[in-house]
Amino acid sequence: MLGVAGGIAAYKACELLRRLTESGHRVRVIPTESALHFVGAATFEALSGQPVHTGVFSDVPEVAHVRLGQQAELVVVAPATADLLARATHGRADDLLTATLLTARCPVLLVPAMHTEMWLHPATRDNVALLRSRGIVVMEPASGRLTGVDTGPGRLPEPVEIAELARLLLERADALPHDLAGRRVVVSAGGTREPLDPVRFLGNRSSGRQGYALARVAAQRGAEVALVSAHTADLIPPAGVRMVHVGTAEQLREAMLVEAKHADVVAMAAAVADFRPATLVDHKIKKTASGPPSLTLELNPDILAELVELRPAGQLVVGFAAETGDETGDVLFHGRAKLARKRCDFLVVNAVGEGLAFEQPDNAGWLLSSDGGETELPSGSKALLASRVWDAVASRLT
Ligand code: C5P
Repeated sequence: MLGVAGGIAAYKACELLRRLTESGHRVRVIPTESALHFVGAATFEALSGQPVHTGVFSDVPEVAHVRLGQQAELVVVAPATADLLARATHGRADDLLTATLLTARCPVLLVPAMHTEMWLHPATRDNVALLRSRGIVVMEPASGRLTGVDTGPGRLPEPVEIAELARLLLERADALPHDLAGRRVVVSAGGTREPLDPVRFLGNRSSGRQGYALARVAAQRGAEVALVSAHTADLIPPAGVRMVHVGTAEQLREAMLVEAKHADVVAMAAAVADFRPATLVDHKIKKTASGPPSLTLELNPDILAELVELRPAGQLVVGFAAETGDETGDVLFHGRAKLARKRCDFLVVNAVGEGLAFEQPDNAGWLLSSDGGETELPSGSKALLASRVWDAVASRLT
């Protein structure tokens, strides 16, 4: 079920609807009466291929207000206005959407969008806290330009981000508990780029998707998150996350050392270049008749090792390892050896190679823990893998 409440961000519900139907889901749209001031029922009917009603008195013989909630595998409300949150909190059932929220027994994802003042008002804060305490997932709004000239938290997160969390809840209903509230988390993501000259660099194929999913899921589970991002595919900064952009391994190192100082958890998902050109040429290296230039490389610092070395008491450090098996052992064998060598608390081990992990939406592997724990991470979305990592971290923190 896709509920749509009456805010200007209702127009973005159309894109969300398309994403959900294009990924194979059957979606029934339930707008509120006021949502129809922004987007017509015909648009929702055409995009979903399903009838659209707003009140409990349409389709009476079908008892829609009970049936729709009972049948749903997931209810997403985007945008969820301050009024919708208030009505949901108090168990009102004065239209089809709120009645459906009362009868639904599946995961519910509410995606707020409203003016900053409304989002920060104690009434809304209390409503959100109560809804979360009941196990309803209330997404963090994005910050930025709102209708008119004002900016601040209250923007609807991008539809692609909402769709990612919706998919996660369909994969795993309990993936987003609010168990990292009050925790400070730093995640690194993406691939570093080591410049050769003003136009060329040594880089790698990391898309940043796993790191962004870690940050998004941690923020959703209540953490205050900083995401130190090297180069990535065209990814959307997760809603409610503080972004720090870097280029080279050295810049990533500096940012991580600053951010990690006061963090409860550090997760190094970035693909850090192991080597960099020993000299940075200040002009474009020219082609010459004498053949290509030779490159001298030097070692980059091992940032994870340094973070482990400097970590304050109680801080948990999560490392990542992309491994392939070889004649000396399989992926898991190399993962165990790396965990022992790196001395981090958790190591996520991915099998890499053609068509595995890199640039892919899905991921799989093992989560190894310094206390000897070994959990297989079955293939699923990168958000699902992130949720398993945060489960392990949250239980170790407590
Ligand atoms: O040894 P390996 O490169 O496989 O280790 C991977 C882990 O170490 C990842 O968590 C990666 O972010 C981190 N790393 C690092 N600094 C480097 C190389 C890797 O922090 N120079």
